[in-house]
Amino acid sequence: MVTQATASLHGTNIYDGSSGVRVPLLGLGTWPMTGAECTDAVAHALEAGYRHVDTAENYGNEDAVGRAVVESGIDRGEVFVTSKFNRRWHGGVETLRPGLEGALERAGLEYFDLYLMHWPNPDQDRYVQACEALAELTAAGLIRAWGVSNVKPEHLRRILEASLVPAVNQIHCQPVFAQPQVQEANTAAGVVTAAYTPLGRGSELLQLPAITEIASRLDRTPAQVVLRWHVQQGRIALPKSADPQRQRENLDVFSFELTPEDLAAIAALDSDAPPATFMDADEFGH
Ligand SMILES: NC(=O)c1ccc[n+]([C@@H]2O[C@H](COP(=O)([O-])OP(=O)(O)OC[C@H]3O[C@@H](n4cnc5c(N)ncnc54)[C@H](OP(=O)(O)O)[C@@H]3O)[C@@H](O)[C@H]2O)c1
Repeated sequence: MVTQATASLHGTNIYDGSSGVRVPLLGLGTWPMTGAECTDAVAHALEAGYRHVDTAENYGNEDAVGRAVVESGIDRGEVFVTSKFNRRWHGGVETLRPGLEGALERAGLEYFDLYLMHWPNPDQDRYVQACEALAELTAAGLIRAWGVSNVKPEHLRRILEASLVPAVNQIHCQPVFAQPQVQEANTAAGVVTAAYTPLGRGSELLQLPAITEIASRLDRTPAQVVLRWHVQQGRIALPKSADPQRQRENLDVFSFELTPEDLAAIAALDSDAPPATFMDADEFGH
């Protein structure tokens, strides 16, 4: 099956098996917020203009995210909600369906715009089946599109061999650990890459001279430079912030551009050495 991913500044089209779904490139990450802190953060983000929110069963905050979406009064069709499921639901449609229905009930939503298999969990070897079930549930209308997360090229190869094409692969991606080989495999298959930990958890990344020099020249913040680097390459980015001001800063990346030299300077920071926060999907999963 051939898929199309058409990137633009504000959104990218992802494939849903039929007509295509448009996903805003900049979404709010919500881990590790829960309860009222999470609802408040999502409410502020929606007020600031965010229209994409990333949650997961494992974060224990689908309820808090759903509450903010519903209480915002914004038309449901205008907010893109991504959630993810845990390993216990891997299997055929009869296994996954109750997991999805429970998640929708927690969130108080009728559908998710994007539903992801959170980790492939190759030890139980049911991820291809889980993708098959996702495709069926998409056709049934409980989700608008389906995808995967933390899927390595060899896992993706097996999914593709079953004639299944995820719309999105959400992976750890930041300038110092961009995983180009995973992104290339995604792109070759027509799978859109989404970046989690896009700011390196706000760590030393934002103090690296290659980033701060571009930021001073453009009169932007280091976080804006890094997020612009993601979206300018057609990648979805999911920065988490609980702080309304940083949320606004992170969203404001569509009115300036990085030059090819800036992109190259940031690309030069990449290394094969995984940061301490990186988890290997062949060894970790939930
Ligand atoms: N699929 C997966 O397996 C997976 C794994 C990890 C994460 N995720 C998703 O990806 C999201 C983001 O990843 P992440 O939380 O690991 O890392 P991140 O978004 O790179 O970094 C978040 C950290 O950066 C700080 N920050 C945010 N904006 C900032 C700014 N403009 N300047 C300085 N610091 C800033 C935040 O603090 P404040 O809140 O105080 O602003 C927070 O401590 C998660 O929330 C989750 O939704 C998915």
